Amino acid sequence: MSVSEPVLLSAAEVEAALEALADLVTDAELGRWRTANLGRKSRLSLALRSLGRRPVEERAAAGRFLNQAKGKLERGFRDRRAALKAERTRALRPLDVSLPGRPLPRGGLHPITLTERAVVAAFASMGFHVIEGPEVETEYYNFEALRIPADHPAREAMDTFYLEGAEETPLLLRTHTSPNQIRFMERQTPPIRVIAPGRTYRNEATDATHEWMITQTEVLAVDEGLTLAHLKGALYEFARRMFGEDRTIRFRCDYFPFVEPGVEVAVSSPRGWIEILGAGMVHPEILRNMGYDPEIYTGFAAGLGVERIAMLRYGIRDIRRFYENDLRFLRQF
Ligand code: PHE
Repeated sequence: MSVSEPVLLSAAEVEAALEALADLVTDAELGRWRTANLGRKSRLSLALRSLGRRPVEERAAAGRFLNQAKGKLERGFRDRRAALKAERTRALRPLDVSLPGRPLPRGGLHPITLTERAVVAAFASMGFHVIEGPEVETEYYNFEALRIPADHPAREAMDTFYLEGAEETPLLLRTHTSPNQIRFMERQTPPIRVIAPGRTYRNEATDATHEWMITQTEVLAVDEGLTLAHLKGALYEFARRMFGEDRTIRFRCDYFPFVEPGVEVAVSSPRGWIEILGAGMVHPEILRNMGYDPEIYTGFAAGLGVERIAMLRYGIRDIRRFYENDLRFLRQF
């Protein structure tokens, strides 16, 4: 029977194993290291098991050395495992709740929204209340009910966007807020005092004073005994509240099929008169169509251009600035 040589473990081997610990990162790597250095088939275990085959005089010292080596390897393993675990926990918590807070950037209202609100507030303080109507309209509300028949030149002045796929009852983007007059009078009886702000659309070439989408505010009052003087009074009062006492406004005759007489109002500016609205006395035929007796009831209506008013208010020369979405421009309001 042959007796195998005892397995020996050197101090250098133990040091090398301890140094290798520093390179281990994953659980699998840690596991393999433990099996190789502390497992049943590791050189340490084999050396411990073969101690008895060593010469008697070496056994005590060798036993002491192996037990110390075992302690060092076990401690080294535990320390490395704990260090990796702590690192992973730190990586999971990138949020330092003790940091001071940072303010969120504040948004603001668009200059047209601000101006529309100021227009609405001026009329609200004169007793008008706000209504709204659809942006997609029929030819009846946008044109016919307002006395603009198909062959009327006013239809050409309002180059209209038509919607596709509605040939029998054509649908269009309203070219003005005046359809709200009809929609409201159809359902209500005088006295009426309403304003209808909203977007309107015209297929126009754009330039410094024209956009294909503009914001209007329709004004409508119907009552017994209203005259052109009431219309002028309301619009003067509006201009005073909007622009202050020192701006001059100018009334001139104008033509709109749904009013009689019709006027146009412009406001003085360093660059001359700027037209901001059309207005007039509601046409008697429309009152009759709505079921009101024009011998008893009269009314006035106006359509204000909110972008033009905003240009005057803020001294803006080009209407296109409003819809370019340039934050350097928008941040100034
Ligand atoms: N709807 C007209 C336009 O857009 C303005 C207007 C409204 C004129 C009410 C008279 C009365 O040009």
